Amino acid sequence: MIQLHDLKFEPFISEEKITASIDRMAREINRDFKDKNPVFLGVLNGAFMVASEIIKRFEDNCEVTFVKLGSYEGTSTSGNVETLIGLSHSLEGREVIVIEDIVDTGNTLAAIDRILKSKKVAGYKIATLFFKPEAYKKDYKIDYTGMEIPNDFIVGYGLDYDGLGRNLTQIYKLKQERMTNLVLFGPPGAGKGTQATVLKEKYQLVHISTGDVFRYNIKNATELGRNAKSFMDKGHLVPDDVTISMLEAEVDKNPEAKGFIFDGFPRTAAQAEALADLMSKKNTEVSAMIALEVDDEVLVERLLGRGKTSGRADDADESIIRNRIKVYYEETAILKQYYLKEDKYYGVNGVGSVEEITQRISEVIDNLQGK
Ligand code: IMP
Ligand code: MG
Repeated sequence: MIQLHDLKFEPFISEEKITASIDRMAREINRDFKDKNPVFLGVLNGAFMVASEIIKRFEDNCEVTFVKLGSYEGTSTSGNVETLIGLSHSLEGREVIVIEDIVDTGNTLAAIDRILKSKKVAGYKIATLFFKPEAYKKDYKIDYTGMEIPNDFIVGYGLDYDGLGRNLTQIYKLKQERMTNLVLFGPPGAGKGTQATVLKEKYQLVHISTGDVFRYNIKNATELGRNAKSFMDKGHLVPDDVTISMLEAEVDKNPEAKGFIFDGFPRTAAQAEALADLMSKKNTEVSAMIALEVDDEVLVERLLGRGKTSGRADDADESIIRNRIKVYYEETAILKQYYLKEDKYYGVNGVGSVEEITQRISEVIDNLQGK
């Protein structure tokens, strides 16, 4: 893997494969252009490497010129006018072979076509090392294609990302970092809040606590908040679509996030479905349900201890504590099943120091990227 500026790229096409493609293109060009004294027109900057390789393999007389595509503000209202910078050759009446590194949308080809026609060439052919059929929007015939590739961003062999990568002798493609979207669960007293705070920092995730989102929207009387409150005021549960809209708004506020920690949601299988839909709408998915596992007796002891210092009434009464734990297991059982079925459930031992527990969760998260 290599890093260019802010992005990571992984090996994609070997030099061997590129060379084999160039060999074939050169054979085809030799077959079609021997005795025709063609002009090879390399389109800079990207095509310098492939142009050199193709031209070396041409076995008869030819001329070589390189151009750069430029634009200047037209004097008329037509706006930008494309020009070929550096074209010293007269191409009139010549057979031209345009050499491109890559044809993507085909916009460059459109400009080249217009310009070559205005230069009154006898004819021209297009040779490109790479072609992205899924991105191509024109219908100029491409006469010699090295390789068709999917619509990924690539670098190497002349192609750059913001100036870097042209010197690489093989092709790399942009590594799509998958988002880490966690659904975090833990019974009362398991230390879920503490872990969420640590994980958020460590993995640069955005912590979305459903409780906080509700309070924020209601306090600020957002449209969604007022809508939610209208149900709550009547003593009704807030419908899932209202809640999911609030979560979506939070997700949309963080377009650069490396992932999210969902806390307090989902609580039902229907909500898990809704969350899956929301994630897929954002081109991602829930990566894992992480559930902290702590023995009931340990939880009771912890919460009773906490109750002594915090003064929280619900932490002082053992039967209330036991009931909260029971409710937690009743609520999460269905979600555990849901995520187990998707092979996304990870129970993590929640007994130990904060660091130890973070370490256990981190092992799960670090393994998700490779999955
Ligand atoms: P077009 O969309 O066919 O006009 O291609 C425009 C230009 O975009 C190409 O000449 C390349 O310079 C650049 N380009 C298109 N796809 C890639 C890629 O995957 N990596 C690097 N540059 C690219
Ligand atoms: Mg180019």
